[in-house]
Amino acid sequence: MKKVYDVIIIGGGVIGSSIAYSQAKRGKKVLVLEKNRLIAEASSAAAGMLGAQAEIDEHISMLKLALKSRAMFPSLIRELEERTGVDIGLVNKGMIKVAETEDEVVNLKKQISFHRDWDEAVKWLTTEELLEKEALLSPSLLGGMYIPNDGQVIAPRLSLAFIKAAMEYGTDFLEYSEVVDFLIENGCMQGVITATDTFHTENVVVTTGAWTSQLLAKANVEMNVYPVKGECFSVIPRVPLVSSTIFSELGCYIVPKKDGRVIVGATSYCNTFDKTVSLQGLSKLMERAGSLLPEIGSAKWEKSWAGIRPQTGDGLPYIGAHPHYKGLYIAAGHYRNGILLSPITGKMVSDMIDDVVTKEDISLYHSFRVDRKLSTKQTT
Ligand code: FAD
Ligand code: GLY
Repeated sequence: MKKVYDVIIIGGGVIGSSIAYSQAKRGKKVLVLEKNRLIAEASSAAAGMLGAQAEIDEHISMLKLALKSRAMFPSLIRELEERTGVDIGLVNKGMIKVAETEDEVVNLKKQISFHRDWDEAVKWLTTEELLEKEALLSPSLLGGMYIPNDGQVIAPRLSLAFIKAAMEYGTDFLEYSEVVDFLIENGCMQGVITATDTFHTENVVVTTGAWTSQLLAKANVEMNVYPVKGECFSVIPRVPLVSSTIFSELGCYIVPKKDGRVIVGATSYCNTFDKTVSLQGLSKLMERAGSLLPEIGSAKWEKSWAGIRPQTGDGLPYIGAHPHYKGLYIAAGHYRNGILLSPITGKMVSDMIDDVVTKEDISLYHSFRVDRKLSTKQTT
């Protein structure tokens, strides 16, 4: 029998599952095809920070998108948790970007004056105020930028909740089902082909993270999405070490999770799909974390891992319809912010498929369109 769906999503990470949930909730018959296991790539490796203001400060459209997405979390998490029983571990204790040098003090104070236009709650903490808030931080820190509204979640559980909720609405998820080609007739999507099967649909959404360029090449679509590996480790402290997420621009963050674990991340290596964890990377992270929070050395080791972030030529995600193929949508390249951007990406793609994008959103979404001029510059 011909297998026909309203929408087929390729890729079972946080982006694919958010779009699946959004479409299924709107009554669509959805299929998600995943080449390995669900939530086994970047979306399970993520530290779960919702760092709209900690991590984004250059591109205004990206910041607007991130703030919109951040604002969606409280009600979305309530809805998903009620529906699925999964504890997504939302923590709203803010993030602190700490300064270790005078140059960083100047830079962070500039960031504060910029970010206060978007959220007045952002403020500077002196060393004294920093230590009053987080007593175990190193007294050698020169202060920090406090961002009360950048929260965090347990990343793999967010994807799990999207998946469970989408399943409740009837979405089919198929693991070990790699899409190897597209069915296209007269410029219109007609379905996708796996090694063992053909599935029919007029709407295909590519959410294949760092593997997006390879897959789209099958449809002769060129897209500059490339891998950036990141390593992390986690520990279980004997006593709580910090309540806010601590973020250093010198390549280290410390994220105290709701379940008591503390995640330390992350390294950055361009153009590799190799997920092995290096001693060099880990020891650098340990040294950095120890200089910010000396007491972390007494915590119990849990584990280490690596994931592959999907980065793009110009650093912005691709979210939108492909202009040459009717029914082909792409949502990929969310780089360091895919967990944060998953709710808004689900809504954006769903609104595009359903042709209900508002006038206000059209101008914001324009920056992320898939046919924008590509820069070949690779940044980490
Ligand atoms: P993925 O999760 O990689 O999913 C893509 C899926 O597509 C994979 O499962 C893959 O197997 C599948 N696939 C590929 N090709 C095919 C095919 N042909 N057929 C079928 N399936 C296919 N973001 C934040 O917001 N906050 C953070 O704190 C954060 N921390 C991070 C820390 C680390 C160490 C890393 C690595 C990333 C972090 N990120 C964070 C970034 C975030 O994890 C990613 O942006 C996000 O997970 C991307 O989601 P995705 O669904 O696009 O990709
Ligand atoms: N956003 C954190 C990371 O990608 O490492």
